[in-house]
Amino acid sequence: MTQAHDLTVEEAGLAFLTGATFQDEALFHAAASVLRRHDPIHWVEHPDFNPFHIVTKHADVLEIELHPAEFLNEPRAIMGTKEGDAMRAMQGHLVKSLVQMDDPEHRAHRGLVSDWFLPKNLSTLQGRLDQLAERSIEQMIAAGGEVDFASDIALQYPLYVILAILGLPESDYPRMLRLTQELFGAEDPEFKRDENALAGLIQTVADFVAYFDGITADRKATPTNDLSSVIANGIVDGEPIAHKEQLGMYIIAATAGHDTTSNSMAGGLLALLQHPDQLARLQADPSLITTAVDEMIRWTSPVKHFMRTATVDYEVGGRLIKKGEDVLLSYWSANRDEDVFTDPFRFDVGRSPNKHLAFGFGVHYCLGAMLARMELKTLFGALLPRLKTVELAGEPQLTRSTFVSGVKHLPIRYEIA
Ligand code: HEM
Repeated sequence: MTQAHDLTVEEAGLAFLTGATFQDEALFHAAASVLRRHDPIHWVEHPDFNPFHIVTKHADVLEIELHPAEFLNEPRAIMGTKEGDAMRAMQGHLVKSLVQMDDPEHRAHRGLVSDWFLPKNLSTLQGRLDQLAERSIEQMIAAGGEVDFASDIALQYPLYVILAILGLPESDYPRMLRLTQELFGAEDPEFKRDENALAGLIQTVADFVAYFDGITADRKATPTNDLSSVIANGIVDGEPIAHKEQLGMYIIAATAGHDTTSNSMAGGLLALLQHPDQLARLQADPSLITTAVDEMIRWTSPVKHFMRTATVDYEVGGRLIKKGEDVLLSYWSANRDEDVFTDPFRFDVGRSPNKHLAFGFGVHYCLGAMLARMELKTLFGALLPRLKTVELAGEPQLTRSTFVSGVKHLPIRYEIA
């Protein structure tokens, strides 16, 4: 890590409020390191934001994740401005997904879809993942030695997987791509739909509603064995699942595994390019792919945070969090914690143990963690043995977002066998 940024504790806290910080890895890590060292549970105040604590140490993030009754996801699961909080509250009237629920509602709804993500079911997808990896490699060959690996390969592959899981036709690919980018990239000028963020978000949600209402009608009439059929015909507490929770299920299934997985793929390749010794090591010993994939996920931590709200006064890391106060769990910071990871700023494809928190922990632990790992293993497992040379062909660019972010452009030059 460079030490180009000399930040005070206050400056470090304020840096967490802006998407631009997450486009500059050195700046983010400088800010997070200052907080971990000097004020690991840091109270941040700014006129545009409702105040909250930033939690930067691994042990403290874990402690909060493990106490879901004391720290709720509702009403503020994601950090935004006061205006953004109001917007999300409004969105919450239209759709409600797992990350906006708490028990007992959360357990009942998660139970509906969790079987779908069990190894028994996921293993049936392996053949499809192999085909998609092969298609990506063919695309790289056809491109003649140069691609933007982030937008041409890493963004596409997980979206085809999502279409497969939901049982949607490949012709719906462009529509899904636009919608997921608009939902997650609302802050990034490249992706936002409307100068007025609220108007853009309402249009995006309306498009989702129209599309998935059609899918529901179809799967009610003719159920298949896809995830859409589980959602369309879902029963919770003896009643059909309500419309806004149903939409929330579709939306989280369509979005949660997209930019997250593609960011870890593109960021994973960038890390290998920046650490050529680790690329050579992995190519020489393909059995390291399992640890390499987890290291890519730790390194990139595509989900930068989730938030919780305290239901009681609770002491964490020697600091009292008062009832009603909000906390931001900084996964990227926790995953560089010097007290947990040996040499945390070293990218090590053989790292073991690797107790990273990039998938969260506890009752909300990422439902797609196993699927995401399978996707990365399949793509890199097929690609790396065939890459004779690979190098950067331009400046990588990161997304401007405080929530889900990573490498959005990665121009590379390569020779492939
Ligand atoms: C590298 C890729 C991914 C990362 C880094 C990631 C990260 C996360 C994180 C941090 C959470 C919140 C956990 C918590 O609050 O403790 C989460 C929740 C979730 N993820 Fe992922 N995710 C990834 C891929 C996927 C995929 C492929 C899917 C499936 C399509 C998926 C589906 C979900 C769902 C449904 C939840 C909500 C779980 C709940 O609230 O009960 N994710 N993910």
